Formats: sequence, structure tokens, C-alpha cells
Amino acid sequence: MRSAVIALVVFVAVSRSDFLLPFQLSDDLINYTAQLEQPINNETVCPLAQLNYCQYSFNMNFGLNSSITYSNGSDIFSTIQNYMNMNTTELNKVCKARTNFYHCLGHSYFTCMNLHTRLQSNNTDSSNGFDYVRTFRSLEWICGGGLRDANNQFTSFGSFSNSTIYQGCMTTFNQTATTNNFCSSVQATGNCLSSANSNSTGQAAAGRFGCESFRYTFNKACPGLQC
Ligand SMILES: *[C@@H]1O[C@H](CO)[C@@H](O)[C@H](O)[C@H]1NC(C)=O
Ligand SMILES: *[C@@H]1O[C@H](CO)[C@@H](O)[C@H](O)[C@H]1NC(C)=O
Ligand SMILES: *[C@@H]1O[C@H](CO)[C@@H](O)[C@H](O)[C@H]1NC(C)=O
Ligand SMILES: *[C@@H]1O[C@H](CO)[C@@H](O)[C@H](O)[C@H]1NC(C)=O
Ligand SMILES: *[C@@H]1O[C@H](CO)[C@@H](O)[C@H](O)[C@H]1NC(C)=O
Ligand SMILES: *[C@@H]1O[C@H](CO)[C@@H](O)[C@H](O)[C@H]1NC(C)=O
Ligand SMILES: *[C@@H]1O[C@H](CO)[C@@H](O)[C@H](O)[C@H]1NC(C)=O
Ligand SMILES: *[C@@H]1O[C@H](CO)[C@@H](O)[C@H](O)[C@H]1NC(C)=O
Ligand SMILES: *[C@@H]1O[C@H](CO)[C@@H](O)[C@H](O)[C@H]1NC(C)=O
Repeated sequence: MRSAVIALVVFVAVSRSDFLLPFQLSDDLINYTAQLEQPINNETVCPLAQLNYCQYSFNMNFGLNSSITYSNGSDIFSTIQNYMNMNTTELNKVCKARTNFYHCLGHSYFTCMNLHTRLQSNNTDSSNGFDYVRTFRSLEWICGGGLRDANNQFTSFGSFSNSTIYQGCMTTFNQTATTNNFCSSVQATGNCLSSANSNSTGQAAAGRFGCESFRYTFNKACPGLQC
């Protein structure tokens, strides 16, 4: 199983078509994002036994090692990335598994899918916690409002993150985002991705797709931003 995962990672490193937008965020900014998401009341308990069960069921679809949990977010991110990039059949399989996962957790989905809550668990470091949450948040968009376009424009939208204009938007984000301007940087990056993707494909829908794919990761920390 482990070697299958590694082989897939190599595959994507070569083909570079990434529906889950690839970018790095410093631990400082991940922690800041978590702070912005900190739950304010008691409707915040994530039932870990249930989360583990639902995650296990989700993992079965992708040959993930049964010991992989919400603490191993980076492995989950790269595995889901690889499946979605294969073809639309596999992308829809990811979305079906995601729907089952969502129903499995029921109203606990949102309390479990909280970056602050995830980083509170003692065995999850910042990047694994962030990768976990951003995987499922991105799927909320790709498998929801973005699904029809993801299917119809699979090759074009999937390869957006391979473009130099995508890289340009993300380099600016990387170099300018701080805890003092975080949410406005997220908005500016969404705007940049929107205009970059529209420019490269000549389609407004592409701009929205690129922007939302990014914004959904931060929609809890920075509510009210728009694409
Ligand atoms: C920018 O990206 C690099 C890796 O490409 C990462 O190490 C660094 O933490 C990022 N900076 C911010 C502010 O996210
Ligand atoms: C981020 O938060 C984690 C856990 O909450 C902590 O262990 C880590 O030291 C923090 N990192 C930074 C750079 O503040
Ligand atoms: C939160 O839960 C604790 C224990 O169940 C309870 O004592 C407390 O009053 C609750 N607080 C709120 C704001 O509901
Ligand atoms: C799962 O991963 C652990 C730790 O890497 C390893 O010890 C174990 O053999 C793996 N299990 C399976 C079924 O691949
Ligand atoms: C998953 O994460 C836990 C906690 O960090 C770690 O102990 C374990 O080795 C990881 N499992 C795999 C298969 O990498
Ligand atoms: C999609 O990709 C999977 C894995 O590579 C492959 O088994 C399957 O035949 C492909 N399906 C289509 C319709 O291309
Ligand atoms: C983390 O560890 C502390 C101290 O051992 C413990 O009180 C707390 O319940 C643990 N949190 C989780 C989510 O396991
Ligand atoms: C990614 O970009 C490189 C260089 O611009 C190009 O050779 C390659 O074909 C692109 N891959 C995809 C999947 O678009
Ligand atoms: C998209 O095209 C417009 C008009 O040519 C230009 O002003 C804008 O800077 C371009 N956006 C990006 C991200 O390249």
C-alpha cells in the first residue's frame, strides 16, 4: 500500500495537473488560520471515534493504509490529489467517497473539519492538520458547485496549477501574506487566480473555478470573501 502511494506521488510530480491547489503555507500562518477558526462555544466537540470510523471507510476507497487518520493529512492530500488527476471517473469516485464521508459524520462534519480543533489533538502537526482540512474544504467546492465544470473542463482546469500565471499569483501570496493582512491577501490571491485562469482559458467560469478552489480552504477563517 505504501509503495502504491509513493508511486502515485511520483506520477503527479511528473504530470503536474493538480485539482487540489498546490501551495505551501508557513506554520505561523497555518496557526494563525487556526486561531481565526477557533470555535466559540460548545457546539464544537468532534467525536473522534466517529471521525476515525468515517475516515477509515473513506480510506478504503483509495487503498490507504488503515493506520492513516486525520493526523496524516499530508498523505491523504497527496492520495486524493492523485486519484482526482487520473480521469473524470476517478474524480467522481473521490466525490462519491466524499459524500459518504460527509453523511457518515452528519452534523459533526463541520466541527471535525475545523483547523483549530484538528491542531488541538496532540498528534497532529500544523502541516498535516492544514493538509487534512484543505483537502476536504477543496472537495466541498470541486464536488459541489464546481463539479460540472471539473468534469467538462477536466484537462484545462486540472492543469491550471501548472501554469506560470498560477505560480505568479501564489508567489505573490507567499511573499506578501502576513498575520496583519491575511484575509485581504486571501481575497487578493483569489482575484489574481480568477483573472489568471480567465486569461489563460478565455472563460469566466474558469476564473471562478480557480478562485473558489483557493478560497474554500479559508472560508471559515475569512468569512465573506468572494470570487
Ligand atoms: C512560502 O513558500 C515556502 C516554500 O515554497 C515556505 O517554506 C514558506 O513558509 C512560505 N511562506 C509563507 C509566508 O507561507
Ligand atoms: C503552531 O501550533 C502548534 C500546535 O498548536 C505548535 O506546536 C507549533 O509550535 C506552532 N508553530 C508556530 C510556528 O507557531
Ligand atoms: C459547555 O459544556 C460544559 C460541560 O458540558 C458546560 O458546563 C458549560 O456550561 C457549556 N458552556 C456553554 C457556553 O454552553
Ligand atoms: C501501515 O503503515 C505502518 C507505518 O508506516 C506500517 O507499519 C504498516 O505495516 C502498514 N500497514 C499496512 C497494512 O500496509
Ligand atoms: C500518522 O500520523 C501519526 C501521528 O503523527 C504517526 O504516528 C503515524 O506514523 C502516521 N502514519 C503513517 C502511516 O505515516
Ligand atoms: C481512469 O484511470 C484509472 C486508473 O488509472 C483506470 O483504471 C481507468 O481505466 C481510467 N478510466 C477511464 C475511463 O479512462
Ligand atoms: C492532549 O494532551 C493533553 C495533556 O496530556 C490532554 O489533556 C488532552 O486531552 C489531549 N487532547 C486530545 C485531543 O487528545
Ligand atoms: C506543465 O508545464 C510544463 C512546462 O510548461 C509542460 O511541459 C507540461 O506539459 C505541463 N503539464 C501539464 C499537465 O499541463
Ligand atoms: C489578465 O488580463 C488582464 C487584461 O489583459 C490583465 O490586466 C491582467 O493583469 C491579467 N491577469 C493576470 C493574472 O495575468
